[in-house]
Amino acid sequence: MKNILKLLSILTILVFVGFACEKGDTGATGPAGPAGADGENGINGTDGTAGCIQCHTSDENMMVKEAQWASSGHVTGTHMGGYYGSRDGCSDCHSSQGMQEVVATGEFDQPAPFNPLPANCYTCHQIHQTYSSDDWGFTVEGPVPFRVNDYLADMGNGNACVQCHQSRPASPVLDLATTDDVSITSSRYGPHHGPQGNMLAGVGNSGAYELDGTMSYANSMHAANPATTNCTSCHMASSEGTGGDMALGEHSNNVGVGEWEDESKIINRNGCIACHTTIADNDEMTAFVSTARDANMLLMEELGTALFNLGYITETGSVVASSSAPLVVSTQHAAAIYNYKFLEEDQSTLIHNPNYAKALINNSIEALQ
Ligand code: HEC
Ligand code: HEC
Ligand code: HEC
Ligand code: HEC
Ligand code: HEC
Ligand code: HEC
Repeated sequence: MKNILKLLSILTILVFVGFACEKGDTGATGPAGPAGADGENGINGTDGTAGCIQCHTSDENMMVKEAQWASSGHVTGTHMGGYYGSRDGCSDCHSSQGMQEVVATGEFDQPAPFNPLPANCYTCHQIHQTYSSDDWGFTVEGPVPFRVNDYLADMGNGNACVQCHQSRPASPVLDLATTDDVSITSSRYGPHHGPQGNMLAGVGNSGAYELDGTMSYANSMHAANPATTNCTSCHMASSEGTGGDMALGEHSNNVGVGEWEDESKIINRNGCIACHTTIADNDEMTAFVSTARDANMLLMEELGTALFNLGYITETGSVVASSSAPLVVSTQHAAAIYNYKFLEEDQSTLIHNPNYAKALINNSIEALQ
């Protein structure tokens, strides 16, 4: 008992000492140390809002481009942002953020953003990065890989366009070296809606299937030098002489406005006259395109009729195939179906690359005979 009391009192003392130690008074603050070395000079800022005003003015830089862009199919159409932009993978090309993600990561099939924006100034330009005119630089700076194979398309200023305006891989992928039967399981078999990049590239199997035949696959002048003649040189040509039409040329992205059916179509000749030197005005250019278009539509119809007669497509051009009732055909016939869809979806009635497109039609018809 005595020992326990002794132990307790020792413990009590130790506890007090502990408290006393913890509660010791803080010493007085020492003198301030010497000043540190000077930091590096900051980068000069732009004076006040001058840097902003070089762009945010009512002149050509912003307001005009915005008004033109408002007339572009990217804004007037119903397939940008919204439902299409909010689907994984579709958002790669149907939303601004999706495309930027593909460019940043180099990977296709990005998850969709929550609030998909239609394409806008930020999609193509490096807006608000340096707050200088460098911001007009492009988001897509170099060649663009094709989704259907490893081909790198370099179309100068048109590279941003080709990022989205290119084929999506279709199943089955065909091997023209064999004549094996293949099975098509979708009525939407084909390259999807915007294969213009592949059509312009016009190189061996980078887009359509180059079936053997009597016509050779020579590229037309429209496609021969994509650094100078590309999407932008025709679709974003100067709007001079268009009577102030904001929907034609430059940032409207339109090479033509109006409809062919009711003869209200007008083609902007400014991107054409370097080569088509004898065309005097937009009316003459429109008539020239119209004549070629009529002839080309007859050629496309020939291939369409051949496919229809074989029971491969419907009158409206859908492939007669589904997962429950696949269309089983030879590789060559499948290629002819694909080529037809490719030419239709390109939407230029062969004008993007006439010589190449005509060889595709001719040789596809031959392959079906
Ligand atoms: C290189 C040209 C450029 C410069 C320099 C620039 N801007 Fe912008 N700014 C743009 C463009 C292009 C847009 C997008 C307009 C559109 O979507 O129609 C924009 C949009 C905006 C918007 C609207 C919100 C948004 O992000 O879309 C604000 C606010 C803005 N800028 C403020 C500024 C300020 C402040 C400065 C200067 C510190 C500045 N900008 C400098 C080109 C520029
Ligand atoms: C972010 C992807 C993307 C980029 C970049 C892009 N486009 Fe498009 N483009 C589309 C989509 C998607 C549509 C369909 C829009 C709709 O129907 O709402 C379209 C529509 C169009 C149309 C109208 C088609 C029609 O049937 O009326 C033209 C012309 C066009 N684009 C040309 C261009 C050109 C030229 C460029 C480059 C300067 C370009 N596009 C860049 C995705 C893109
Ligand atoms: C590689 C880019 C790309 C991807 C990925 C993509 N699209 Fe498109 N899509 C386009 C372009 C470009 C157009 C506009 C083509 C034109 O007008 O010539 C378009 C047009 C469309 C149209 C309008 C067709 C018409 O006749 O007006 C629909 C519908 C569509 N896409 C649906 C989808 C769906 C659904 C997905 C995902 C399963 C998807 N797209 C994925 C590039 C793409
Ligand atoms: C689809 C891609 C695309 C979009 C979207 C786009 N631009 Fe452009 N922009 C271009 C291309 C390509 C050029 C080069 C002109 C040419 O090739 O004819 C250009 C050039 C310009 C220039 C001239 C740059 C310079 O160096 O002088 C300005 C200014 C400009 N764009 C402003 C805008 C504004 C503002 C918006 C939004 C309303 C916008 N752009 C949206 C593709 C685009
Ligand atoms: C040699 C000039 C030229 C070049 C290069 C060119 N286009 Fe076209 N494009 C045309 C003409 C002409 C039409 C038919 C216009 C019409 O019928 O109103 C057309 C039609 C289209 C259409 C169908 C919608 C429309 O406006 O009728 C789209 C989409 C398109 N082009 C996108 C592109 C893309 C993307 C590129 C680059 C890969 C490109 N084009 C390169 C001249 C050109
Ligand atoms: C780099 C020169 C060049 C430019 C730029 C050019 N073309 Fe052509 N175009 C040609 C040549 C050459 C042919 C004859 C076919 C060939 O050999 O390529 C042709 C053929 C055509 C054809 C006949 C197509 C057919 O199926 O027979 C049309 C229509 C046409 N061009 C329209 C245009 C339009 C519209 C533009 C501008 C938006 C344009 N071209 C820009 C050189 C050019």
